[in-house]
Amino acid sequence: MPVSKDCLTIVTKIGAVNLLTSWSDFYANEAPWDVCHPQRAIVELVKRREIIGNRVLDVGCGAGENSIYLAEQGFSVLGIDFTPEAVEIARRRAEKHDVYVEFFLGDVFELEEYFGEGEFESVVDSALYHTVSIEDVPRYIRQISTVLLGGGGYYMLCFSEKEPPGRGPRRVTKSEIRDSLSASFDIAYIRDTLIESRIHEKGAKAYVVSARKI
Ligand SMILES: C[S@@+](CC[C@H](N)C(=O)[O-])C[C@H]1O[C@@H](n2cnc3c(N)ncnc32)[C@H](O)[C@@H]1O
Repeated sequence: MPVSKDCLTIVTKIGAVNLLTSWSDFYANEAPWDVCHPQRAIVELVKRREIIGNRVLDVGCGAGENSIYLAEQGFSVLGIDFTPEAVEIARRRAEKHDVYVEFFLGDVFELEEYFGEGEFESVVDSALYHTVSIEDVPRYIRQISTVLLGGGGYYMLCFSEKEPPGRGPRRVTKSEIRDSLSASFDIAYIRDTLIESRIHEKGAKAYVVSARKI
């Protein structure tokens, strides 16, 4: 997908990424995952008409590119992120695209405080799961499951065990995904894909997961 010229300066600062310590720092310094267009794997889900229903929650929406794309495709989207700088960027980009997305500043560990049970028909998780510590995953998945309607879809994109060790988020195994989702979800598939980034020329090796709440 072409990159908008006002948005992306391709990385020349791989070393600097290591020095950034907070989510806010990342957004002030061209976050590696902010490729200024929706992730290809998310676009493919939409093109295959896999996303269930109309009301979609984009968890850890970041600069909002996936939310904006989904809204442009006709979904009613709420993007949530706890980094104020991300939400600000996302709101500006949605305005520029002339599309309505509700961007909500909040913590995904408190979804059930903000939203009703079963309020969303689908949840999109692009590169948030792999930032959650393994200890916190059960709590995280419970939050998602609570706000998702029975039969609703959970679509998750994360770094996979096939990505060589090194900088970046933790690498997630297929067996971890099965273990963390199996209590509340039927997993349709866990497939190899790539996460586009400013620092991986061809993308980072990743899994895309499609699951339905039981
Ligand atoms: C790697 S970025 C991915 C952003 C976006 N989904 C994308 O694909 O470009 C992860 C995002 O999750 C957000 N995040 C991390 N932990 C969070 C939490 N507990 N609650 C809400 N947002 C969170 C961060 O602020 C960051 O914007």
